[in-house]
This record gives sequence, C-alpha cells and structure tokens, in this order.
Amino acid sequence: MTNIGSYDERVKQFDWSISEKELEYSDGNIINIGWYCSDRICDKGHGGKTALIWEGQGGVEKRFTYNDIRIHSNSIGAYLRSLGIKDEDRVCLFLDRIPELYIGFIGILKIGAIAQPLFSAFGDESLHLRLEDAGTKAILTQRKHVGKVRKVLDQLPRLEHIIVVDHDGKKPLKEKEIAFSMEAAAPVENFEIFPTKAESPSVLHYTSGTTGKPKGVKHVHYSLIGQYLTAKWVLDLRENDIYWCTADPGWVTGTSYGIIGAWSLGVTQCVLDSGFSADAWYSFIERHRVTVWYSAPTAIRSLMKAGKEAVERHDLSSLRHLCSVGEPLNAEAVVWSKEVFGLPFYDTYWQTETGAIMITNVPGMEVKPGSMGKGFPGITALVIDPKTYEPIVEPGRIGLIAFKPGWPSMMRTYWNNEATYLSKFNNGWYLSGDRARLDKDGYFWFVGRDDDVINTGGHLVSPFEVESALLEHEAVAESAVVAKPDEVNMEVVKAFITLKPGFDPNPDLELKIMNFIRKKLSPLAMPQEIEYMDSIPKTRSGKIMRRLLHAKEWGEETGDTSTLEDDE
Ligand code: WT7
Repeated sequence: MTNIGSYDERVKQFDWSISEKELEYSDGNIINIGWYCSDRICDKGHGGKTALIWEGQGGVEKRFTYNDIRIHSNSIGAYLRSLGIKDEDRVCLFLDRIPELYIGFIGILKIGAIAQPLFSAFGDESLHLRLEDAGTKAILTQRKHVGKVRKVLDQLPRLEHIIVVDHDGKKPLKEKEIAFSMEAAAPVENFEIFPTKAESPSVLHYTSGTTGKPKGVKHVHYSLIGQYLTAKWVLDLRENDIYWCTADPGWVTGTSYGIIGAWSLGVTQCVLDSGFSADAWYSFIERHRVTVWYSAPTAIRSLMKAGKEAVERHDLSSLRHLCSVGEPLNAEAVVWSKEVFGLPFYDTYWQTETGAIMITNVPGMEVKPGSMGKGFPGITALVIDPKTYEPIVEPGRIGLIAFKPGWPSMMRTYWNNEATYLSKFNNGWYLSGDRARLDKDGYFWFVGRDDDVINTGGHLVSPFEVESALLEHEAVAESAVVAKPDEVNMEVVKAFITLKPGFDPNPDLELKIMNFIRKKLSPLAMPQEIEYMDSIPKTRSGKIMRRLLHAKEWGEETGDTSTLEDDE
C-alpha cells in the first residue's frame, strides 16, 4: 500500500486540513518549520533516530540523530540571537553541502529569521546582487568561500556579520568576520523558539527571470502544510526509508524536499557532498541502502551515458521509489530506468515560486513516459489560452500552465518586487511561465518555457544577467545570450558578442571571457560557447532579438523577422 492510496479518491475528497491534522496544526496556531523538523520528532519519541547521514569529500562520514539536529540548531539559533539577529532578519547560508547548511537552516527558522540559501559555487557578483536585494544581515560561510564575501563587502553596508563555520585559527579574520563552530558550541538543551505564525516569512530563494535582477521568492512557515503532504504522498516517504535528495539547498528542491519534507516526516536522509560520477552515486546508494531517490533529468542522462554496466557493478536492490524534477524528463530516461533499476522515474513539476510539487506522477498512477502527470490533489492545474486566458479543454492544444492561487506553499511575493509578483497573475490564474498540452486522460505534457530563461541541467540562468556580466569584460562591446542544445544538460549558455576596437576575436580571448563569467556569476552561467559577431541583431527599439539567435541554435525556422524588428 502506498501513502497516497488511490489518486482519484484523494482528488475527490481533498482538503489541506488532512495535512494540518497530521501536523496537529490549526488555524491561528504557532507554526515553526524549525520546530517541526527537529523538536516535534524528538517529542514523539524519535530523538535517537538518525536524521542525517552525511558524506563529504574523500568518504568522511558523519551521522546526526534528531536530538543532535535539535540541539545543534538550538546552538546556532542562540548564537545568532546573541549577535542581535531578530525575527525577519535575513541570514544567508553560503555553504557547501556540509551539515552546518542543513542544521543552520533549521536554526535560522527557529529564531524566526529568514533563511536565504545561496549556491556556494556562486561568484562574487551573483552573491552581491542577492545579498544587496535582500538586505542580508548575516552570512554563514566557509573559509574557502569567504574571499568572495570580502570582495563585495564594501558594497553591502547592511551586512553586519560574516560567520565562518570552519575557521582553523590560522589566517586572521578580517572586518566583520567571526568564527563559530557548531560542534564545539555549548549544547543548548532548552531553547525558546520564536512563535512564528502561518504567514511569518521563512525562506527567501533567488530565481532568475528574463530581465532585471534575480527575484527573491518569499515563502512562509505555512508552506510546511504543502511540503509535508507532497513529500508523504509523492515521494511516498515512510518510517524506515533512507531517502536521498540529490539537490543542493541553494535551490528550492534542496530545501523543500532536501530538508523540510523528510525531516518533518521524521525520515532519515542522506547527503553526498562531493562531485558527480555514476560509480560514486551508485556506491552511495549501495552503502546506505537508499530506498527513495529524488533527482534530476541531467543526472539521469549522465547515468544513462555511463551505461548499464555501471549499474551492474552495484547492488541497488534497496531502491523502491524514484522521482525527478527540474527539467523535462525524457521518455527514454523513464524507459531506461525501468529497465536497469526495475523502477520508472516519477516526474514531478513545480517551481521555486510554487514551493512544492504541483503536477506529478504519484505511486499507483499509470506512468506515461514523457508526461509530467496530473495535478496534485487540491491543486487546480490547467492549460490556458495565451490570448484569452481561458481554460483549454480540448486535448492536444498547447497553452500556458496555470494554477488556481491559494495552495499553502505558494510564494507570498517577490522581495522588493510586488509589481513583478502581480504580473504573474491573469484572469485569476497564477501563470507558471511554461507551456504544455493535456492529453485525453488529463496528463500534462511539457512543451517549453514561455520566456527566454535558460534551463541548464535544471538550473535557471537569466540571459540578461549573463549579458550584463559580459559587458563588464574589457573586450566586450555588445552581448546576447541564448540557450544552445546539449545532450546532457538539455540546454547550455551560449553567448554572442561584438568586441571593442583593438581586441582580436581569438580562442584565447574566448576562454578568458568564459572564465570571467564563471568567477563572477557561476559555473552554471558560464557560456559553453562564445560566437563573435559584427553586430548583434536588435529590434528598432534596441531590444536584443534573442529569439532569432535561439532559433538559429536550435535549427528552427526564424519565421517572419520583419515582425521581430518591429517595436513591441
Ligand atoms: C522551472 C522552475 C522546483 C524544482 C526545481 C526547479 C522547469 C521544473 C520540470 C519538469 C519540465 C520542469 C520549468 C519550471 N521544470 N520541473 N518536471 N518538467 N520542466 O525550480 O529553478 O524555479 O525552475 O523548471 O521550466 O518553470 P526553478
């Protein structure tokens, strides 16, 4: 028997109060995700159960029980409070996937502060933009990343504390830096958790749009109601599971399902903080007897490339349920996984903005390889006409993916950017910005994004951000950035540039520019290819014609370019 039971029955008789009841929450009560993910599990008598199995570079392993999570997160919370951090202050986690990242997240939530996780491979410019926009007060980081913080510190007057969690005392600390060791800190048994309510802010995740600065998606503590139930019904997590979510908490999958989902259910989860290789991943599953695995199409395509032989070198018989998110999951990947693991990957569709799984395949449902499945019970998901914003009922016609607003884990706004938040709604629907079609059985089939945002290996990259960073390079006069097809990452970043007089378009310069972007933004945003041009195609009003360049990369018809040249 699966946790969800019958999908159709659940859809018929659904109410979010199912989740509220299980969490013993009722309207108006205190709800604190940090408490739910640690203290509550201990209160239920599972303090001695393993919450986290962590493996770092070179195979170092650490284990933490729920009681350890409770006490360490208390220590972190108490320490932050001692620095003057209060509820609603933004605290950034700029850490590799080390235990402090997971436990620090819980500690921040316990004091009612807002956790702002950022991918540790971000360069100084990506970091700067996001800390500045959020008005971040403190940042938890590591020795290896502190240099990037130092580089932009001058431009961040509101950043008061730089907390280095692994300071070895060797190199002196600089301005605003302080050392803190989670494991050496005095254990805090009794801690006064801040009484957050349903609408109290919890997490601020930055996501990329087509234009302008990255957007800070604001979530609230009530999101737990959605994250808990989707983790239970879609990921099918149960008491004895060993769960592995491969996502980094710098992105929403890594927090909603790489921290909150599993821990609010009291399930043991594993984290692997080292680079990707098929053998390393399979040995990890084998060693820890992983049962439920949540990953992404890019990783799955890489595993496919490594072949069946790699699978056969390991005992993966512990696996019982596999899920995927982040980008279109090819039908071939589902067929392949059935063949080699004996289990299909269940595709799940959602966004940073939705906070939890929205369209999905669930256990017990017939999986149609290549389809994203159907709306989660309680979610009104549909495809609407891009002109009239009315629902499309006939199967096969492409439209925009839309949801009826009001599910628990929905974003509450974009930080400092209510106007863009409001622009996401039309005719009473929340628009995801993706296109899809429905089949006759009501399954969703992903078609593509409705904007120019690049999805590279499940990570959204803003073409505008890369274009702006390119212009900061001394040789670049103009730039245009689009997606280019790629076998493993589906899309990678490609840049078109024109050079300033005196610069020579050669391969060496291309490498230098790539590296410049990698350091400034991140390895994900780094163009995999740079093409020199004499001029960048633009509309008469000066807008870059990304669609034209995009069509060229994908071998598509460019269509009637005269309309493209018109002002919009
Ligand atoms: C965008 C959201 C929330 C998980 C991590 C990504 C694309 C997500 C799927 C899927 C096809 C997908 C969409 C979406 N996407 N899941 N199953 N099939 N595309 O969160 O960074 O906010 O990106 O990822 O384009 O809008 P995100």
